[in-house]
Amino acid sequence: MRVDATPDHLAQAAQVLQQGGLVAFPTETVYGLGANALNATAVARIFAAKGRPTFDPLIVHVSNLEMLQQVVQSISQPAQTLIERFWPGPLTLVLPKTKAVPGLVTAGLPTVAVRMPAHPIARSLIEQAGLPIAAPSANPFGYLSPTRATHVERMLGDKVDLILDGGPTQFGVESSILLLSNPPLLLRHGAVPLEDLEELLGPIELQINQAHRPLVPGQLPQHYAPRTPIELANPHTLSPQQKQDAGLLAFQHITPGFAAAEVLSPVGDLSEAASKLFEALHRLDTLGLSRIYAEAVPQHGLGQAIMDRLKRASR
Ligand code: TXA
Ligand code: MG
Repeated sequence: MRVDATPDHLAQAAQVLQQGGLVAFPTETVYGLGANALNATAVARIFAAKGRPTFDPLIVHVSNLEMLQQVVQSISQPAQTLIERFWPGPLTLVLPKTKAVPGLVTAGLPTVAVRMPAHPIARSLIEQAGLPIAAPSANPFGYLSPTRATHVERMLGDKVDLILDGGPTQFGVESSILLLSNPPLLLRHGAVPLEDLEELLGPIELQINQAHRPLVPGQLPQHYAPRTPIELANPHTLSPQQKQDAGLLAFQHITPGFAAAEVLSPVGDLSEAASKLFEALHRLDTLGLSRIYAEAVPQHGLGQAIMDRLKRASR
């Protein structure tokens, strides 16, 4: 059931979580599908609802530092610096886990991915539940992430106890994931641009393409995909035949001749484009198009996260 995130519904949602149920809720990145991270039975329901393989570990969401200490063993100096600068916000840190975190959450890894979301509804839900909340994006495994409650309702409506509607999300792409090894490794491009992390930490290595032994399934070559086949293309080089049953995902301007088109940011703002990306793809995906052609965006700032999602969605 989808409900507005009123104080009453928030209290109800917190109870559902305490009782081992599933609640979909907005974060500043995308909607998450939450369960009590300390309860393996509750967490198992997340995997079942998403059709997610259990080798794919979850992100644990906390609302304060005491909760963080329940799930991580130690916080290194660089981790501390990052927390002070970027939390609450869309940065996920991979840190050594405590025994309180069930192996199902981390897919048996000795580390746990954690973040403190900035969205007031997410913060308040976690705070009221009084529990760390495991929450992947609230979509079937491998499919487009949800940036609106109605996306969750359409994709997982019958599998979730409660969907808290808090309107469209702000960033529209998932959190950046950083493994604090020496040197630090970026595991997923996301809502905090790599440049901002490097400004604080110095050089960071990328480990975002692991087709054979993915650390993060977002690293699989195929992920974040709509049902309609999508490919990166320069719209100006396509023939009228190629365009006539196809959709265009444009960065700034529409090219004529497509059956449907979405523009991510007329002024060329990469943050605006990221926030519209999944929403535009959800819309195009409902139109029964033969194919979606996506135009490339500049690869700096949030452009890296956008291009990462588009390349992985391509087939
Ligand atoms: O913005 C986000 O991060 C959203 C919102 C809901 O917070 N969540 C999200 O979760 O994107 P999900 O499950 O779709 O992606 C989390 C990724 C997974 O691909 C998982 O493999 C990786 O985080 N991950 C989790 N634990 C890890 C660990 N211990 N080491 C490396 N990667 C890990
Ligand atoms: Mg996901």
